[in-house]
Amino acid sequence: MQMGYRGIYEQYRQLIITGLLKPGDKLPAIRVLAEELKVARKTVESAYAILVGEGYIVSQGARGTRVNPDLKVSAVSSPVEAKVADAGINEILDLRDGSGDLRLGIPALDEFPFKKWLLLSGKAARSLRPEEMTNQPLMGYAPLREALASYLQISRGITCTPEQLFVTNGYRTNIRLILQSLAQHNDKVVMEDPGYFFGQKLLKRIASNLHYSPVNQQGLDTCYFKKHHHDARFVIITPTHQSPLAVSLSLPRKHELLAWASENQGWIVEDDYDGEFHYTRKVIPALKSLDINERVIYIGTFSKTIMPALRIGYIVMPPDTIQRFRETGEIIEAGQPLLPQKILSMFLSEGHFFKHIKRMRTLYQQRREIMLGALHALYSDIFYYELTDGGMHIVAFLRKGVQDVPLAAIWQKHNLQVFPLSSWYSQSQKRYGLVLGYTNIRSEAHAITLLEKPLRETLVLINSAT
Ligand SMILES: Cc1ncc(COP(=O)(O)O)c(C=O)c1O
Repeated sequence: MQMGYRGIYEQYRQLIITGLLKPGDKLPAIRVLAEELKVARKTVESAYAILVGEGYIVSQGARGTRVNPDLKVSAVSSPVEAKVADAGINEILDLRDGSGDLRLGIPALDEFPFKKWLLLSGKAARSLRPEEMTNQPLMGYAPLREALASYLQISRGITCTPEQLFVTNGYRTNIRLILQSLAQHNDKVVMEDPGYFFGQKLLKRIASNLHYSPVNQQGLDTCYFKKHHHDARFVIITPTHQSPLAVSLSLPRKHELLAWASENQGWIVEDDYDGEFHYTRKVIPALKSLDINERVIYIGTFSKTIMPALRIGYIVMPPDTIQRFRETGEIIEAGQPLLPQKILSMFLSEGHFFKHIKRMRTLYQQRREIMLGALHALYSDIFYYELTDGGMHIVAFLRKGVQDVPLAAIWQKHNLQVFPLSSWYSQSQKRYGLVLGYTNIRSEAHAITLLEKPLRETLVLINSAT
């Protein structure tokens, strides 16, 4: 049987991980390897592109392709090996439809490979077959589910089959589908506090028995959770980068939660919305990758990695729940538009996605530095930071006594779409600050220009508060 790009990728990754290929070692030229394996050049190119994207190899032009000389082999572990190892807030806060600067969670639109996307769009549209034009599969386009299963294994350490994937249009559908498929009337649902602003709004509307658990430096406070909510049926969390505080759930807490879920037949809903973007450590595998008892329902989105308006998200369903999801889906869902799924599946399987993510990881790290530098230069006495591993936003904390809602209103007047942190809290003791996105900051000058706009009014407000 002819080898596919995934087989080639996996073989080289193993050679590198096991040390048979060492940092600096040369890989065969694409043409040579393609001839040897009797596969198309494109197949080898795709495999190499993923390896480049994941940082295993580097392409050095005329010097050829080599194992990344900076790779610390002992530190290279397969993600799978890591298994062992108020809604009443005023309208000014509802920024969903806005288009201002510093909006959090928007990928760097200036750096998206639109040309490539356009090419694939044409290719996908031309290849639409009549049966594809009439039947959009309920749970998603099969090649996309396959590509997703492979991406999740490689990038997030999650082992799942394509059949476990339900392609949706994002967070809201994910949550609705999960609750409507698995929840009984009045089941207790627990959410992080502070927690994702739009998630709170949704859950307040659809979960009749909603509770909160506080978050501290190590993520969800599992002690509090187990003491007050051991009888919960669902806990909805953002373990990789907590939304909004961006802290990562510690490993002991991950294990505590998994044990709680197994003992109590609880469900952990892992929202891994921006898990790809980590800067200070190597990949943090998803909580799902530790889930041997299948108690984690993993949800993901392409809103942070491609663009929000693509509207493609997905659920990884534990095997025993697939039937219930299907039955619910048949009633409340109609499947997603096929063409974008087709484009996306090509983008993934040809290796462009991995390459893009790799570039964005470096770029966002640089842009975060630029943003922090500009904030320090202009607002050094006003904000303080608790820097975290990654994510796509910064929380600029304010000293006690300074209100963030009027401050955010000032910034918003200048078309800066920042959120007041306190509005993300429900019951826990509030902290105050601004939640700022930095991924579309293009340069130091750009950052300064934007941040200077509300400076004078910010100083007036702060001085009047102290
Ligand atoms: C915490 C969190 N979860 C999920 C999402 C993704 O939402 P969607 O898939 O609906 O774009 C976001 C986007 O802002 C988010 O911040």
